[in-house]
Amino acid sequence: MATKRKLPDNPNSELVDFLHELADYEKNVSRLIHKYNAYRKAASSIAKIDHKIETIKDIKGIEGIGKKIEAKIEQYLSTGKIKKLETNRGDETGAAINQMTRIMGIGPAHANKLVHQEKIKSIDELRSHPKRDQLLNKTQQLGLKYLEEFEQKILRDEMKQMETILLREINAIDDQLKAEIVGSYRRGAAASSDIDVLVTHPTATILPSLLHKIVDTLTKKVHFITDTISIGDSKFMGVCQMNASKLHRRIDIRVFPSEQYYCALLYFTGNDLLNRQMRIVAQEQGYKLNEYSIQKVGSTGVLSKPLPVTSEKDVFDYLQMDYKEPNQRNM
Ligand code: CTP
Ligand code: MN
Repeated sequence: MATKRKLPDNPNSELVDFLHELADYEKNVSRLIHKYNAYRKAASSIAKIDHKIETIKDIKGIEGIGKKIEAKIEQYLSTGKIKKLETNRGDETGAAINQMTRIMGIGPAHANKLVHQEKIKSIDELRSHPKRDQLLNKTQQLGLKYLEEFEQKILRDEMKQMETILLREINAIDDQLKAEIVGSYRRGAAASSDIDVLVTHPTATILPSLLHKIVDTLTKKVHFITDTISIGDSKFMGVCQMNASKLHRRIDIRVFPSEQYYCALLYFTGNDLLNRQMRIVAQEQGYKLNEYSIQKVGSTGVLSKPLPVTSEKDVFDYLQMDYKEPNQRNM
């Protein structure tokens, strides 16, 4: 999952970026998740301000900024720098740990181990390390191999071309298969960080074999999928490439039975904030909502059978919420 960064035209983008940098250090190096959350919260509050912050008075009374972070913002406003950030930047071990966490599948704990136990100080050192393949699992090996490529956004035009190939090949397997590209692409994003595909079939009961057939076709017939990270009964995670002149991209393909499809479509279209909001509304109204179904919660906490859902709108209707088109779901 890509870390969302604020729009470049934000009047306080430098301060917001500094707060994100401080947050990442706490998460990856100090491993103090409450401090990470505090910086993220402050950054998100600052990012919502639509004018340039000139003095500390401009942020008085703004939610989510505690005394310690306020003091750092004050330093920034008066000197253009934050001492703690300068110190962090001078910490070579910390920088190395941060570098390691850029790799798919490497979290703070593994990153710390690579740096402290194996004394690896950079991505280059990891790449040329004699024990590289013992130090990394398969996901991490692919993450390292494609590190720079995975960090590049996929423009909408390339997403469209990949959509064409995917839908064509999936329909060639079985014309009753229905597939959609979801995630940020379906919400209309100009650029996405990966490709999220949902597939369903009106009657098929052997979805796992369908998923394997799809992956097989996309791998062997059209050479679109280049690597498999993992494949189970309902979810494939891997790597794909439009053609040799394009970058390698992360792709997830999920299959759902038709009665679960629209709850899955809603969930994997997101965004995550809307999902969270809808889950809370569901709870308040006595429902349980997840990526598979919506169920009624009885007075004793017993769940009903999944309610019938034949469109995303059905879910909005159960919750008495106004329907939102996918491009209105960027909360
Ligand atoms: N999602 C989620 N929780 C997860 C995984 C996925 O809520 N653990 C949902 C989110 O609503 C998200 C969608 O699935 O919007 C797709 O996930 P992801 O690819 O991480 O985000 P996108 O919105 O597609 O954005 P990006 O362009 O960065 O991929
Ligand atoms: Mn996505």
